[in-house]
Amino acid sequence: MHTHPVHDFQYKKGQLYCEGVSVASIVKETGTPVYIYSYQTLVDHYRKIVEAFSSVNPLVCFAMKANGNPAVLKVLAKEGAGFDIVSGGELEKVRMLKADMKRVVFASVGKTDEEIRAAITAGILLFNVESLPELRNINRIAGQMKKRVQVALRINPDIDTPTHEKINTGSLKKKFGIDLRTAREIFLGRSAWRNLLVNGVHIHIGSQILTGEPFLTAVERALAFVDELKADGVRIEYFDIGGGMGIVYKDETPQTAQEYARKVLPLLKGRDFRFIMEPGRFIAGNAGILVTKKLYLKDNGVKKFMIVDAGMNDLVRPSMYGSYHEIIPVRQSAAPSLVCDVVGPICESGDVFAHDRCLPDVKDGELLALLSAGAYGYAMASNYNARPRAAEVLVRGREWAVVQKRETIKDLVRGSAIPSFV
Ligand code: LLP
Repeated sequence: MHTHPVHDFQYKKGQLYCEGVSVASIVKETGTPVYIYSYQTLVDHYRKIVEAFSSVNPLVCFAMKANGNPAVLKVLAKEGAGFDIVSGGELEKVRMLKADMKRVVFASVGKTDEEIRAAITAGILLFNVESLPELRNINRIAGQMKKRVQVALRINPDIDTPTHEKINTGSLKKKFGIDLRTAREIFLGRSAWRNLLVNGVHIHIGSQILTGEPFLTAVERALAFVDELKADGVRIEYFDIGGGMGIVYKDETPQTAQEYARKVLPLLKGRDFRFIMEPGRFIAGNAGILVTKKLYLKDNGVKKFMIVDAGMNDLVRPSMYGSYHEIIPVRQSAAPSLVCDVVGPICESGDVFAHDRCLPDVKDGELLALLSAGAYGYAMASNYNARPRAAEVLVRGREWAVVQKRETIKDLVRGSAIPSFV
């Protein structure tokens, strides 16, 4: 297994390329670790969804928590994407891009007054509300601002999604969404919310879901809920099915966008919803790699460790969720022959990218690429161990540019102070 067929990272004459640019030539200028994104892969995946669901003219709001790089966001905004935001910070980023606020939806279980105010001022399309107290608060703030705002209720369909425990959100044991009974009461009494138009239903059941069934169950449950409301004279305008579509990391066979559409679209026949989707990983996941350099090989007599210059602070998914990321050499080399753990330099036993992985026995200083790192990669990076965050590069055809400079130690201590009493 070398490169996935689902992205634009391929070997040419023994060298790994992103589209028309060799990865090694980028690294020569940026150093490592560095994230590299493919413009074409981003756009292809965005279009796959738009095309598959074209019959319902979906509003595809990229879940920008997956990848918040402004250049990446701009690529998608130019394609017509909206954004699913979860904080005032994300709102501000969208504003700075001058993206269309009427294509922005805002979910989060803990929206603060400041965030609510900022989103109302910006004129976003829809708040995806996650509790009754939050609804009250938005109503109160909208009243103060003399605005009427549109609201969808994120309902919790209480299903058990077959995915990693930490990214499963669709059950009532999780903090997300509103239980159906409460949601129903809110809808039935919606005229009492003077400053709100409560007219949407939102679901998001989890992430990296590989088959259509969980989505289907959730959508069916949401539609049954909508139908009950209809019988009571409540009409729904927005129907947002969230994100969650799984991708290939190793040997998964996730449903395609077409297959997803074939499952879900028949359920939507004859309904005149404004249909919204919030994919994150599906668009960005396979569009990015993390390039790192092998530093050392350590053999302690029990195990071998390949030590690389990226750490869990750069890509936390393997440590946090036990996620698999394919690792390939940037310079194509001999067949894999070395079984080792691939580890970072961080002072944590959990700083492991791969356990007992069979890899080519590359020399010290050689480059390795961790694949499918475009979603929840840089976005979850930290400065743990005083490590500046990596650089990010965007490639389009034969062109490339640094779209996020590598942080410096100065960046890390900006804002720190040592008070006089110390
Ligand atoms: N909509 C909402 C309300 C969400 O909470 C999320 C993701 C999405 C959409 C996008 O889901 P996606 O299409 O990317 O699956 N850090 C974890 C994933 C956390 C997902 C959080 N919410 C990981 O690295 O696997």
